[in-house]
Amino acid sequence: MNHSPTAARLATRIERLKPSLVREILAVANKPGIISFAGGLPAPDLMPDMRDCIDPDTALDQYGASEGETAFRSAVAEWITHNGLPVAPSQVLALSGSQQGLDLAAKLLIDDGTPVVTESPSYLAALQVFELFGASVLPLALGRDGPDPATLDALLRQHRPACVYLIPSFQNPSGYCYSPEVRKVIAEVLDRHDAVLIEDDPYRSVSLDVTHPMQPICSYLKRVPWIYLGSFSKILRPGWRVGYLAASPQLMPYLVRLKQASDLHTQRPAQAAVANWLRHAQRDADLARLRAGYRLRRDAMQTALERHFGDLADWDVPQGGLFFWLRLRQHQATRSTLDATLARGVVFMPGESFYPGPMKPTNTMRLNYSLSTPAEMERGLAILADCIAAVSAA
Ligand SMILES: Cc1ncc(COP(=O)(O)O)c(C=O)c1O
Repeated sequence: MNHSPTAARLATRIERLKPSLVREILAVANKPGIISFAGGLPAPDLMPDMRDCIDPDTALDQYGASEGETAFRSAVAEWITHNGLPVAPSQVLALSGSQQGLDLAAKLLIDDGTPVVTESPSYLAALQVFELFGASVLPLALGRDGPDPATLDALLRQHRPACVYLIPSFQNPSGYCYSPEVRKVIAEVLDRHDAVLIEDDPYRSVSLDVTHPMQPICSYLKRVPWIYLGSFSKILRPGWRVGYLAASPQLMPYLVRLKQASDLHTQRPAQAAVANWLRHAQRDADLARLRAGYRLRRDAMQTALERHFGDLADWDVPQGGLFFWLRLRQHQATRSTLDATLARGVVFMPGESFYPGPMKPTNTMRLNYSLSTPAEMERGLAILADCIAAVSAA
């Protein structure tokens, strides 16, 4: 008898399923002794104490509603409204991390060949999902204050994309934060066309020294439908996998059914704990402590970068979020130094994977500052700079 395994007939979309460089690098980054600037992990010592918020109700051990817990949906609706986007609890869907929202939005909007606009550079795992579902991604160049609205207008006019995916507050990977003016004009442009806006906002609460308002773009829209994604990963605990979306009422029934088909519902005890935290007297003090802690780390990273990268690269000091985004002055590929830095115990994210489309500037790199101590920053950046200088001298 022949017992050799038969090749499985996989769906054609599997050919588009690219391995994620982040996941591969993160697998190494978690090894003991490695200094990691690679991931977007929050600092464990700055995570709020949640012991008071855990709900012992054993009813939460039972299956629950696909939309999410009633208490969670109403606390989150208040939170989103407080952040500048007025929504009702019925517009909120609990997610197993905001990454799930990208998956649901892609299932809702993207067929094989559907044009989708994303910033360039953009969040790697969003590009991965959109491409898996067959999107033809149209890159929109990103500046410090956001993208050029006229360029977006031209893309919308020419390609009629199904959706536009934007991360306006402390964008991943660039750290850029759209100005209030750009937010308003982008909304006006979107309202002239018929693409759905997917606004991804996981870093809003890691705001360190922005003085202008960061009103969600969705709040300015008058006509086009929108999906707004949020997360508790960066401020509470990523391992709990709790995020949310809010959406235009007309999209909600489809999103709820897609959620149901995907995982029935988000885990209930974590939703209950997050809802309790959102209403807890300590909430704002927890956030203030978190921001103060990240400010210190961001400043320590800036000092170490000035010392080791002052002659090698240009960057902006991020006003929030968890990353520095560097452009090497010499046009060398940062990826080509990864093996050498790894051999010396340091990992980072080469920037090229964040670019959709064929034009991928290779001289960029994303450096996370939330996980390392100042001493590790000093040591890790010295090694990184040394490896980069060695490649440019070769
Ligand atoms: C821009 C962006 N969107 C979504 C996510 C996913 O976050 P979550 O942990 O809520 O799934 C991340 C995580 O790093 C992110 O940077």
